[in-house]
Amino acid sequence: MSAPRREPLKPGDTIGILGGGQLGRMLVLAAARLGLKCQVFSPDPDSPAFDVVQNATCAEYADVEALELFASEVDVITYEFENVPASAAMVLAARRPVMPSQTILETTQDRLAEKDFVTKLGIGTAAYADVTSPQALRDAVARLGLPAVLKTRRFGYDGKGQVMLRPGDDPEVAWATLETRAAILEAFVPFEREVSVIAARGADGQVVSYDVTENEHRDHILKVSKAPAAIPDAVANEARRIAKTIADALGYVGVLGVEMFVVPGSDGPKVLVNEIAPRVHNSGHWTLDGASVSQFEQHIRAIAGWPLAEPVRHGVVTMTNLIGADVHDYTRWLTVPGATVHLYGKRHALPGRKMGHVTVVEPEKR
Ligand SMILES: Nc1ncnc2c1ncn2[C@@H]1O[C@H](COP(=O)(O)OP(=O)(O)O)[C@@H](O)[C@H]1O
Ligand SMILES: [Mg+2]
Repeated sequence: MSAPRREPLKPGDTIGILGGGQLGRMLVLAAARLGLKCQVFSPDPDSPAFDVVQNATCAEYADVEALELFASEVDVITYEFENVPASAAMVLAARRPVMPSQTILETTQDRLAEKDFVTKLGIGTAAYADVTSPQALRDAVARLGLPAVLKTRRFGYDGKGQVMLRPGDDPEVAWATLETRAAILEAFVPFEREVSVIAARGADGQVVSYDVTENEHRDHILKVSKAPAAIPDAVANEARRIAKTIADALGYVGVLGVEMFVVPGSDGPKVLVNEIAPRVHNSGHWTLDGASVSQFEQHIRAIAGWPLAEPVRHGVVTMTNLIGADVHDYTRWLTVPGATVHLYGKRHALPGRKMGHVTVVEPEKR
């Protein structure tokens, strides 16, 4: 279902956001600067986004009555969390424009559907196979070889729901640890580096993207993002072309993040798509302090039906995530010259939890 044609929002109108994490919080703050109000829907009473809105709905995604009331109180709806149940998106879409659409959610919630979609566009991914049983896994291993990565089709994030299979590993054991019957096996990609493209597509189909970002993970969780990525212009242009192709093909409105691998090739590095995030993305947090318009503002503009901006980068930008106990160091970060500190207000610094981030912008080297 595509969103019905509608008038652009006006200052004072209200955007409904599903999900109350730090992404929601930063969307709310960006909307506020543009004179737009937000209402946040989240089942978690401790949601970081609740701290910065006046209107919050704390209810389960299965609570139809709460969803209906929420829809009646907002002008358009978006989300910061892509695992919103399709049933909730349906209830909302019957009442208000929901961006990105439910069809987009369905494609991007499922690693298999997502890879099939990307492949049909002629864009490269890791070799992959649908895996529904231990026998199917053995067949997939025989076809793709090892090492390979076995992933649940749904609900994976920050490396959760995936196991690496190395030569000599027992596929049965890997299968059992995943506890699912809907999985995908991906050939291991011997990447040179990981990059991402944050792109925005407006209601009128205009696409603008940020400079390609280079990402380093620690324990499968994003740790550092740098912009621009240290890749040749031709590779950067290819990465941005891929993100635009995906956004256009999805008929997307809003910001999306496309995670990619850069792999060495005989005639120069090549770009493969890893996954699509139908929302603002952690690797785009640098745009808050390192660009004229942030990914959060760009998303708000797109769903409001407002013009997008061609973002201007302020320098060489490094964003470091404060994960778990890293956050205890915040007072030191506060004194680092040139550092901008963002804390999400989460009380418990659990291992692997994203607690905040720090951005440092340095002058462009000439
Ligand atoms: N096929 C692969 N080959 C090599 N590394 C991979 C592969 N799939 C995932 N990874 C590594 O694991 C990280 C997390 O995997 P990803 O598919 O992006 O799931 P998540 O939803 O957890 O972000 C990637 O950023 C990459 O570092
Ligand atoms: Mg990922």
